[in-house]
Amino acid sequence: MNILITGATGYIGRRLTNKLIEDKNLKIRLFVRNKKKIEGFKNVVIEIYEGDTFDMPALDNALKNIDFAYYLIHSMGKGGDFSELDRKSASNFRDACIRNNVKRIIYLGGLGVKETASEHLLSRLETGEILSEKPDKIQTLWFRAGVILGSGSASFEILFDLVRKLPVMITPKWVKTKTQPIAVADVVSYLAAAKEVDVKGNQIIYIGSEQMSFGDMLRRTAKALGLKRYIFPVPFFSPKLSSYWLVFITRVPYQIASALIEGLKSETIIQNDNAKRLFPEIKPVSLENAVENAIYELQHNKILSRWCDSSIADACDIKVQQDISSAVYVDRKVREIGDLNERDVFSAVMAIGGENGWFNYNFLWKIRGAMDRLFGGYGTKRGRRDCKTLRVGDSIDFWKVVDIVPDKRLLLFSEMKLPAKAWLELVIDNKRLILTAYYYPFGLFGILYWYSVLPMHNIVFNDLLDSIIKETKKRVCNV
Ligand SMILES: NC(=O)c1ccc[n+]([C@@H]2O[C@H](COP(=O)([O-])OP(=O)(O)OC[C@H]3O[C@@H](n4cnc5c(N)ncnc54)[C@H](OP(=O)(O)O)[C@@H]3O)[C@@H](O)[C@H]2O)c1
Repeated sequence: MNILITGATGYIGRRLTNKLIEDKNLKIRLFVRNKKKIEGFKNVVIEIYEGDTFDMPALDNALKNIDFAYYLIHSMGKGGDFSELDRKSASNFRDACIRNNVKRIIYLGGLGVKETASEHLLSRLETGEILSEKPDKIQTLWFRAGVILGSGSASFEILFDLVRKLPVMITPKWVKTKTQPIAVADVVSYLAAAKEVDVKGNQIIYIGSEQMSFGDMLRRTAKALGLKRYIFPVPFFSPKLSSYWLVFITRVPYQIASALIEGLKSETIIQNDNAKRLFPEIKPVSLENAVENAIYELQHNKILSRWCDSSIADACDIKVQQDISSAVYVDRKVREIGDLNERDVFSAVMAIGGENGWFNYNFLWKIRGAMDRLFGGYGTKRGRRDCKTLRVGDSIDFWKVVDIVPDKRLLLFSEMKLPAKAWLELVIDNKRLILTAYYYPFGLFGILYWYSVLPMHNIVFNDLLDSIIKETKKRVCNV
């Protein structure tokens, strides 16, 4: 069986790929925009094709001899008219599947009805309709899920942050809205089983666990964490205020918070029993179970994918952001590493930021992060997926990892709200640790910003280099 997975660098696609590679009877091909983002799978026998869904020859090439194709893509966050991009992407994909005699498209979209759908959900519904539009030529299995709970999912991180931090919650009316959350592992089980289910024609499969209100979700999550929480819904909490509140308390930025809040205003309830009928062997776990699994993965540094893995958001495609040659200003600091092993120094470099912090001037990074969040950016709250290792596409606070050369180079692209494009590069070369800030200003304000932070660079960057070396020595001594 030949399978194509799109969106394999995203939250769901990465987990599905991880599950399907266990099945030695499958020939798996990934269709990704940047091969570097899937280095983790390089030891496994899979084919990797590069391209995007707006590139027809690349799509045709990737879909040759494929039996089943997963569509796990969306354009939200890319700016401009994401609905139009989503429509084009879906119709390109469907037509390319038809041209290449693919037997089945498997798509995961959102739960909810058109009448009350947010802009984001509406686009997900349209995508499903477009993929299913030619049932005489290709079959589409369209899965629909609401809140997905798992380590690294935006919904889980919001729930987790809210119940951990707030003993008493004054909440908007929407906490009474009904929903059916589902554990990410169950979503992946349905998607994985979808390739062999014996069913004819297009199918819409609603998936979820038991029905509950968002308020119940908060209470039950608190209970699973051993916490007692009090929730008081009030009528005057507008969606905008709720989104600001989420930005203040949780680690998601405004854009994600507001999209989620919009989605929570309408019920997300299962509309048919196709999931039970077609996949009787899958029994979705309870919310408590989903939360416990997520916390286990969080505590054991086993977060396979995260809501900010995809390049879609502000940073756009990673490939575009790798090119530092456009930089107008460059600021470089250098340290000799002496007798230290270069590999040891690099492993300290790979641990910067997130929970590990930014050493002595962590508070300055945090102040800068708080300012960034005020302007709608990620700030430093976003942290890291994994506190020890990094892969291309990972986030470190307000940075995105855009290049890694093992034991040599880490390149970060800034996702701060800046009047500029900015990069931070850490290189180990010839027994030296070299930090370089690259900067491309947007107009006069961008230039003024560069000169205003330049004195700060001296303090913060010099400290960063000294601290990395100190940290390496500490690690080596402890071994
Ligand atoms: N996550 C949830 O909580 C959730 C809940 C309900 C439903 N869903 C549905 O599940 C599906 C997958 O969502 P997700 O959360 O996994 O998304 P995600 O993490 O944002 O990942 C999106 C993926 O799509 C890829 N992509 C975007 N545009 C592309 C294009 N034009 N060509 C090729 N690849 C492209 C991205 O690649 P890059 O890495 O290169 O950016 C990334 O791999 C969506 O349909 C979503 O509506 C998700």
